[in-house]
Parts: sequence; C-alpha cells; structure tokens
Amino acid sequence: MIFTAKRALVTGGAQGIGLAIAEKLAAEGLQVIITDVNGPMAAEQAEHLSRKFRRSCASVKMDVSDREEVDAAAAFIRESHGPVDVLVNNAGICYPARALDEITEEEWLRVFRINVLGMVNCVNAFVGPMKEKQFGKIVNMASSSGFTGGISVSASYAVSKAGVMALTKNMAKQFGAFQINVNALSPGIIASAMTADLTYDMDTLALPRFGEVADVANLAAFLASDEASYLTGTTVDINGGLYMR
Ligand SMILES: NC(=O)c1ccc[n+]([C@@H]2O[C@H](COP(=O)([O-])OP(=O)(O)OC[C@H]3O[C@@H](n4cnc5c(N)ncnc54)[C@H](O)[C@@H]3O)[C@@H](O)[C@H]2O)c1
Repeated sequence: MIFTAKRALVTGGAQGIGLAIAEKLAAEGLQVIITDVNGPMAAEQAEHLSRKFRRSCASVKMDVSDREEVDAAAAFIRESHGPVDVLVNNAGICYPARALDEITEEEWLRVFRINVLGMVNCVNAFVGPMKEKQFGKIVNMASSSGFTGGISVSASYAVSKAGVMALTKNMAKQFGAFQINVNALSPGIIASAMTADLTYDMDTLALPRFGEVADVANLAAFLASDEASYLTGTTVDINGGLYMR
C-alpha cells in the first residue's frame, strides 16, 4: 500500500483488533505508537513489534475516557516522537446482551464515556498537528451492531457504535477542508477476547466463519493509506456477509 503518513497511533492497541492494526501499519513501514489503558501490555507489544520489524515502536498508557490523560499523552508524543498522521480510534468495551430494563445507568455512561467520548477526546487531542500539516487520516472503530441494534450485545454497545458512525460523518465534514479523511469500519464477528465466549450460528453468514483480526487490520490500513484518499465520512462493513446493505 502507498502511505504518505509516517506515524500512526492506535488506541486500545495492546491486544485483539488494535494490535493487529498496529502490526499491519508497522509492516507497511509506519512508526507506530500503541496506546492502551493497560500500559504494561501495550509496552510489551510495542517491544515485540520493534524487534519483529527492526523499527522503533512506542507505547503510552492512555485511558481514552480520561481527557487529562489523553491531553498529556498527546503533548508527550508530540514532544518525543512528532506529529501523528494516522489516528486509529479502536479502543472500546462491550457488555453482553440483556433486557433493556436490566441495563444500569452506570453501564450506559461507562460505555458512552469510552466508546464515544473516548474518540472525541482523542480527536481533540491529536487533530491539531494534522490541521497544521493539512494532512491526516482518522479511522474509527464502529460495529455491525450499530446497524443491527445488536445481536448478542447490550443496547448500550449497539447505541454507542451507531454514535460512532454519526460522529465519523460529523468529523469528516469538520476536517475535510484540512485534507483529513475520517472513516469508520464496521466489523461483524471477529475472533478476539471480546467474542471469546460468543456462540453463533455461522451458517447464517455468507462466509461461514468468524473474521480474523488481520481481516480488519487490512481494511484499517487501506483507510489510512493514500489509496483511500477520496473516501471520507463513510462506514465500511467487514462482516463476512452477516448482513448486506
Ligand atoms: N471483536 C469483534 O467481534 C468486534 C466487532 C465489532 C467491533 N469491534 C470493536 O473493535 C474494537 C477492538 O475490539 P477487540 O475485539 O479487539 O476487543 P478486545 O477486548 O480484545 O481489545 C480491546 C482493547 O481496548 C483496550 N481498552 C479498553 N478500554 C480502554 C480505555 N478506556 N482506554 C484505552 N484502551 C482501552 C483494552 O485494554 C484492550 O486492549 C472495539 O472498539 C470493539 O468494539 C469488535
């Protein structure tokens, strides 16, 4: 793939889909910064990628829902590494399906703080240098549940991911004049810690298997590449035909 971007930051990059995206972008030659609420695991994975690709890969402990921590991380990263060209807003949490009246207010607020406000915090903290450079790529992690309303997940999660899609459109309109592309991807069921306990009838999918984290990483890298330069404000499905629009 062709990349003008030199440096990428992935939130929630210590495992699962985020780690696969970090690995793919490192393989494509970008300097990658892994951030995660789990600082030690992010550091361990950054070291692993540095050794694997013989290229410096950094890590910073960053809880996306903590605005002060995100702002401090952004200042530190700019000072010690330089501006971030690609921001992958991947961090997210999910609660299992339950009756609407069993979802606590605490759950609603926690999911919203991490899955939606977390993205806002990160974009506010990292978009400044992109605007100055008149170049940037923002990739947001939505979910098929944002379209379906959720199959085996809580309404709190489905609603948060529908919010991500709307947020993506809003950001695309705000930042397009600065040559910043903002897109989302919408995975179906991907094998990761998040879906470890999930049982699902695979025969209902056109491609009857769970997706791999690398499937999502390939699409995320494409959205961050020069090859997707006329794509913005869109949400791309990657779901093996779980549903078709
Ligand atoms: N796995 C799937 O089937 C699937 C499907 C659709 C969308 N997604 C989305 O993809 C993203 C990654 O999912 P995954 O399957 O890799 O999950 P995962 O649970 O394996 O990984 C999530 C990562 O995010 C980190 N994280 C959690 N809260 C955080 C916070 N407040 N700040 C920073 N980091 C935080 C975790 O420590 C973890 O490393 C999520 O946004 C998820 O909603 C996953």
